[in-house]
Amino acid sequence: MSLEVVALPERVGRYTLVDRLGTGGMASVYLARVEDLPGVERQVALKLLHSKLEADGRGRSGLVEEARVGARIRHPHVVSVLEVGEASAGVYLVLEYVEGVSLSELVRGLAPEKLPLPVVGRILVDALAGLHAAHELTAEDGTPEELVHRDFSPQNLLIGVDGGTKLTDFGIAKTLARLDATTTGVIKGKLRYLAPEQVLGQRLDRRTDVWAAGVVAWELVTGRPLVEHVSERTLLELASVTPPSASSVRGDLPAEIDAVLKDALRLEPSRRIATADELERRIRAAWQSAGGIADVAEVGEFVTRIAGGKLALRRKRVAGAKAPDSTLTPDGAPSARRARWTSPLVLLAIAAVVGSVFLGRWYAARSRVEPSAASPLPAPSAAPVLAMPGSIESVSPSASPPPPPPSAHPSPKTALPRKKKMPGLASAPYGK
Ligand SMILES: Nc1ncnc2c1ncn2[C@@H]1O[C@H](COP(=O)(O)OP(=O)(O)O)[C@@H](O)[C@H]1O
Ligand SMILES: [Mg+2]
Repeated sequence: MSLEVVALPERVGRYTLVDRLGTGGMASVYLARVEDLPGVERQVALKLLHSKLEADGRGRSGLVEEARVGARIRHPHVVSVLEVGEASAGVYLVLEYVEGVSLSELVRGLAPEKLPLPVVGRILVDALAGLHAAHELTAEDGTPEELVHRDFSPQNLLIGVDGGTKLTDFGIAKTLARLDATTTGVIKGKLRYLAPEQVLGQRLDRRTDVWAAGVVAWELVTGRPLVEHVSERTLLELASVTPPSASSVRGDLPAEIDAVLKDALRLEPSRRIATADELERRIRAAWQSAGGIADVAEVGEFVTRIAGGKLALRRKRVAGAKAPDSTLTPDGAPSARRARWTSPLVLLAIAAVVGSVFLGRWYAARSRVEPSAASPLPAPSAAPVLAMPGSIESVSPSASPPPPPPSAHPSPKTALPRKKKMPGLASAPYGK
């Protein structure tokens, strides 16, 4: 794993960005430092929308909603939202920093080796405890919010060096009220983890996330993606085909584990394991046949093995990062994303301003001599603005490959129709 080279120091509000932690469909997340009082410093994760999303306002409401929902879920297995703010770079979220890796990074780093079953068990039960807490969120008056995360996936599960797993990214989570009021027909979430009812545009509830957890579990125990080549088209057929059993891929899998995964991946929500809590309990029981659930420390050993070097380097970078005030822009906006771009851009901006002043004088002098030839002076060009890395996506096949352009998203009009069979598709969409 390589470290991003980020211009240092760079500021958003009162936060100094130190390193980039990750990029998703909506945002980039940075490790940031803040000095609350002289000598009292904290490290946090700062989530900043991709500039395209910020510029056209599409992502803003998502981030604000993420803050609204996330800030009220207090649970050891959910990443805490500490603050939401706005700087010239846009709206940002301040999150608890998880020093570790995402589950997707962990699995990728380890491949072709698989995580041992007890370690898989620990990751799953921790993640499910966090998910259940999110599902149980209530309004201030105690009314259930009936939150659905809608994007429970390895990219949104963070595993610390201490081995603890935390659920994050409530960017497309919806409460019951909002599920009813908005986005009918628009599919959101990573395609591989979408439940049949999501694909078919039907009503969602917490069982939708139970399906996604079932897919994550299936993939962790088999070491294989459940769906290899996913597209919106193949998804339609998958929505009516029962997934293959995990034991058909991994022959040595205890029958108890196979049975739990089967019950988490029932096509009909009414036949599926009903809650994240129930799935967690079923996993604990079934894993007895596989040596039980590992301690967090064992999970942490894998994180250190895969990412120890990168994390040590990041710590050094934090220790070495200094943020002299002279580098701040007036409103604390990040000036540029990469050091090597900073100087040419500044020079270009100065050249543009100097050039236009020069031109202005020349035009003004000319217009005094030849009034009829006078033309309005072009406005001095603004300093070039660097685009943030990444781009918008509400539907992503996975977080690791670069997101498709916005045009690839289904619009409400082109969203998948209900229960329609696509002629000519492979009869065995799961490849079995
Ligand atoms: N609090 C955090 N601590 C450490 N890394 C994080 C944190 N939040 C996010 N990341 C990293 O950034 C990536 C993208 O964050 P996420 O919130 O999922 O953004 P998006 O909404 O764009 O998917 C994650 O997959 C993870 O690698
Ligand atoms: Mg994400």
